[in-house]
Amino acid sequence: MPCLLLLVFLIQSWAVKAQQVYDRNIFILAGQSNMAGRGGVLNNTGTGIATWDGVVPPQSRPNPSVLKLDAHLTWVEAREPLDADIDSRKTNGVGPGMAFANSVLEKHPDFGLIGLVPCAIGGSNISEWERGKELYFQMIKRAKASLRDGGTIRALLWYQGETDTVNLHDAQSYQRRVHKFFLDVRDDLQSPLLPIIQALNINDVDILQPR
Ligand SMILES: *[C@@H]1O[C@H](CO)[C@@H](O)[C@H](O)[C@H]1NC(C)=O
Ligand SMILES: *[C@@H]1O[C@H](CO)[C@@H](O)[C@H](O)[C@H]1NC(C)=O
Repeated sequence: MPCLLLLVFLIQSWAVKAQQVYDRNIFILAGQSNMAGRGGVLNNTGTGIATWDGVVPPQSRPNPSVLKLDAHLTWVEAREPLDADIDSRKTNGVGPGMAFANSVLEKHPDFGLIGLVPCAIGGSNISEWERGKELYFQMIKRAKASLRDGGTIRALLWYQGETDTVNLHDAQSYQRRVHKFFLDVRDDLQSPLLPIIQALNINDVDILQPR
């Protein structure tokens, strides 16, 4: 009888585990520094060295239900700075990813596990995210790796564009380039209706107006 109980217990815990993994809600976080996170990064104008002040605001605190895919494609507990091992040539601070995940869980406590896939690179322009280029390749590779243990990619969170405001030609080409990028991502992830949540700086809104 104890044996049977143990068996029932084991089957139940496997089922719970399988359920959790199956339910993993994956979000791809891509773009430039605004997504990678520079909150709390202080530039010492004397030495030119940037350091993160280590302050994690309450809305960005770690949560046992929020994981991230690290640079080795392993799921680990998500902690700020989320992008430190991805945008590793820069000093990273607090970004929007953790606050987004915590806010989703606050509004929907039964949402299940969240898996964040940081991919943002500071200073990158939209051409570097073109299909065939390294940043695009890495993002798709990480997105596909995130699905290995089950789960569903719920959305791409995209925060990029400031680098493309430096010259007029890039600014005028942005709408076309970003549109192509979104279609390619949906195509390569075989998710034609993948929601894409885009943050805009007020200054970028002009260049996205249809012309
Ligand atoms: C520090 O420098 C980086 C890179 O030049 C810049 O993105 C960031 O806004 C600066 N931060 C502050 C607090 O000045
Ligand atoms: C985008 O950035 C890359 C790498 O810095 C650079 O080589 C390229 O010229 C830039 N492309 C555009 C269109 O600005």
